[in-house]
Amino acid sequence: MRIIITGASSGLGAALALYYATNENDLVLIARRENRLNDIAQKCREKGAEVKTIIADVNNFLLMGEIGKRLIEKPIDRIILNAGVSTGHAGGITPFEDFYRLFGTNFLSVHALLEPIIPKLMAQKSGEIVFISSLASLFTMPTSIAYSSSKRALNAYSEGLHYQLKPHGITVMTIMPGFIDSEMTQKNRFKMPFLMTTDKGIERITHAIERKRIRYAFPFRFTLMIRILTLLPQSLRDKIVNFTNFKKGA
Ligand SMILES: NC(=O)c1ccc[n+]([C@@H]2O[C@H](COP(=O)([O-])OP(=O)(O)OC[C@H]3O[C@@H](n4cnc5c(N)ncnc54)[C@H](OP(=O)(O)O)[C@@H]3O)[C@@H](O)[C@H]2O)c1
Repeated sequence: MRIIITGASSGLGAALALYYATNENDLVLIARRENRLNDIAQKCREKGAEVKTIIADVNNFLLMGEIGKRLIEKPIDRIILNAGVSTGHAGGITPFEDFYRLFGTNFLSVHALLEPIIPKLMAQKSGEIVFISSLASLFTMPTSIAYSSSKRALNAYSEGLHYQLKPHGITVMTIMPGFIDSEMTQKNRFKMPFLMTTDKGIERITHAIERKRIRYAFPFRFTLMIRILTLLPQSLRDKIVNFTNFKKGA
């Protein structure tokens, strides 16, 4: 399979690259940190995969479009849109700069790269597009407004794309993980409920991809808590959010 992974220099993206690194797969890995990406690429090659690296900032939308056009020179079996940033636990009024950066990286960059790729997948009548969203897309805490908004926008985009591309034989999947150990979560200074190891998180994500789950949120108990929370009357939700926030020291 030819698999493209954005944000493959650390965390989930790097772990996904290593998971798919076999002599049956041809990987294209994208990220900004050249040394880190080259290290991951080398480890993938040692496991038998053909690997190409592309050093790029996904916020350079014109460049993403160009990369997309180059990537379609060969068939694409799976593209995993994983590159992402968070602001961690951000108190106070969210600076516009944070919104701009998070929407650029977590959302707009995705279509900048996919715009030239989608017609190619439609012509192939096959292919998988996997979005790494977040459980934070399902409920917005006052401390994660920019992150949750960007991931919820991603969910809306992926939902529409699923309906648009399903008749063309293309599978669009949206994965919504809870907290998984990575550079992103290691910066968090609050208690992360149901925090999973990277290995466990990758096991869940890859299993969902193999089963072609269109929308997959995990871990189950955390997802259930969030889904119940969204069904409660607003006044009760306010109390729970205030209490949780107070405990976090916001
Ligand atoms: N860990 C969790 O608990 C968790 C939970 C839910 C969802 N997620 C999502 O999972 C994805 C991966 O996050 P992670 O936890 O693995 O964090 P991470 O270790 O910080 O990895 C983020 C990756 O994204 C890349 N990236 C960030 N900004 C980029 C940019 N402007 N251009 C190109 N690449 C960029 C980084 O590479 P460079 O810095 O080298 O560019 C890195 O490879 C994100 O979309 C995140 O929102 C994570």
